[in-house]
Amino acid sequence: MPQFASSLADQGWATCVSSDTTEDTILRELEQIGDTLGTRTVGRGGSLVEVIQPRKIIEAHPRSLSVRFGLDALPFHTELSHRQYPCRYLLLGCIDPGIPNAPTMLVDWRRLRFSQKELDFLESAPVLVRAGQRSFYSTILSSDRMFFRFDPGCLEAVTERGRAALTLVEQRLEDSVPEVHYWSKGDILIIDNWTIMHGRASVNQGSGRRLGRILIDA
Ligand SMILES: [Fe+2]
Repeated sequence: MPQFASSLADQGWATCVSSDTTEDTILRELEQIGDTLGTRTVGRGGSLVEVIQPRKIIEAHPRSLSVRFGLDALPFHTELSHRQYPCRYLLLGCIDPGIPNAPTMLVDWRRLRFSQKELDFLESAPVLVRAGQRSFYSTILSSDRMFFRFDPGCLEAVTERGRAALTLVEQRLEDSVPEVHYWSKGDILIIDNWTIMHGRASVNQGSGRRLGRILIDA
């Protein structure tokens, strides 16, 4: 069993360090770890392996969170929330932490202290998932409670119940104490995207921050 497997299963995320800090090695090792977890899938940019860097609003992908938030803090979200099933794992590898070092933040939805009644509500209140021509209605919590879908960039309330559900999650996130991950070159972060939401602190323009990213279906 890979070393990170028990941390990933227990807390929903795990870290390891690549064998050297060149971009090629980091990306290759992300792929190798990803292949032990499932099947690689494409991100918004249409690529199986991406190198992401903070983008100003004007430069951002039209359907990315960055087009709304740019270099400001990126709010907590589930990766690929616009799909029927968000990807199961998100792997990030630090090619350059940038200056200053903008951390990635992690929050486990199971620690947001939802009551049973609130969970029932999140499982039933409809929200619109904006995905262009493939937009659809869904709920924040899946009916089997296997995954949590939250992304201010593509989830929209079209009913009072939907609005209340989004507000409930936003309020709990505001009150949460996230895990703050400061990057060093070669760090790898493996995230269970079905239980852990991630966000990013604000960054400076031209900070040099670059992360490799791989998305995995499992
Ligand atoms: Fe993300």
